[in-house]
Amino acid sequence: MLSWDDFNTEEATSAPQPAPAAPPKAPQPESAAASESAAAPETDAVKAAREALEELDVAPGLEELEMGAQRIEVDDKRMINCRADLNQLVPFKYDWAWQKYLDGCANHWMPQEVNMTADIALWKSQDGLTEDERRIVKRSLGYFSTADSLVANNLVLAIYRLITNPECRQYILRQAFEEAIHTHAYQYCIESLGMDEAEIFNMYRELPSVAAKAAWSLKHTQTLGDPTFTTGTPETDQELLRNLVAFYAVTEGIFFYCGFSQILSMGRRNKMTGVAEQFQYILRDESMHLNFGIDVINQIKLENPHLWTEDFQKEVTQMIVEGAELEIQYARDSMPRGVLGMNAASMEEYLHFIANRRLAQLGLKEQYPGAQNPYPWMSEIMDLRKEKNFFETRVIEYQTGGALSWD
Ligand SMILES: [Fe+2]
Ligand SMILES: [Fe+2]
Repeated sequence: MLSWDDFNTEEATSAPQPAPAAPPKAPQPESAAASESAAAPETDAVKAAREALEELDVAPGLEELEMGAQRIEVDDKRMINCRADLNQLVPFKYDWAWQKYLDGCANHWMPQEVNMTADIALWKSQDGLTEDERRIVKRSLGYFSTADSLVANNLVLAIYRLITNPECRQYILRQAFEEAIHTHAYQYCIESLGMDEAEIFNMYRELPSVAAKAAWSLKHTQTLGDPTFTTGTPETDQELLRNLVAFYAVTEGIFFYCGFSQILSMGRRNKMTGVAEQFQYILRDESMHLNFGIDVINQIKLENPHLWTEDFQKEVTQMIVEGAELEIQYARDSMPRGVLGMNAASMEEYLHFIANRRLAQLGLKEQYPGAQNPYPWMSEIMDLRKEKNFFETRVIEYQTGGALSWD
């Protein structure tokens, strides 16, 4: 914890200090030396700055910010294509978005706090893990080490400017930082275990089952990533919705689930518990990202019912099914045999269950009738509150951890 004493260097030093040397005097032009003020003459930069400010015309800026308009009313706020001033956070219209921002901050964590000692010993031992278990660790770190960068880039380079609501933007900023922490966590695992970094980070370009998922996500960020793209027509508004579905419902809502359940199953068997604990924190963040995205999509639907046509619903349904199928391919590739109490068939059932859930969350018809959850422990892990860690390692209290002390 920081203390103000840390900054009070004068009192902390008991030895007498020599008086500071006077700064060298700048050469004074004759006219300045004769002026009434003892202050140093203005430098060219100060003069230029003052002249520029005298000429500043505030009118275009005011127009830009629409400050000439009336003060903001809640009803002026809209999820997309909003013309109200986006620099004013309040009054809140979407309390759920602000609450998610607060919840995200309350869940803050950092990768270096997780003890990786047992993982390092197990990973480096000759017979600590089977080949099938080692494959799962490598595949998971291979996919996720770049997937969270894809998500972060989509947030800041594609959707941020198109979501025209300040409380949602506040959450997106928090989410973007969490994605940076997740990429950091994967890098930290890869470095701790002494893996071949180039092999793991380049897996999304080299291994077909990983590359297919990354390529699918990238395909859906291309149009919005063009800085000249704007919303405002039914076609462009639907393109934004496609991106939100692709990233929130599919990438974060389906593509993460095979790898997460494999690694968490490993942790439940007391193997790679440090990696599993990192994944557990990440999963908690991800389930909030997913829920935020679903809320945003549903709010856009509510405010723009003309976008949610029958054809478009069909298209979104197909996107969810494509995501589930790609994740099933990944499950088969990463689990050629049964391992850790799981196999490709039970994972397929789980992904059908997850896809049904995503469809239902978006108000769409389930495509895998009767699919059950074969891994009920996954839901329990996601619901854990931060006070109680699944692996009973440590409790993290960030809300007070960074506070200043007035003592
Ligand atoms: Fe993430
Ligand atoms: Fe995420």
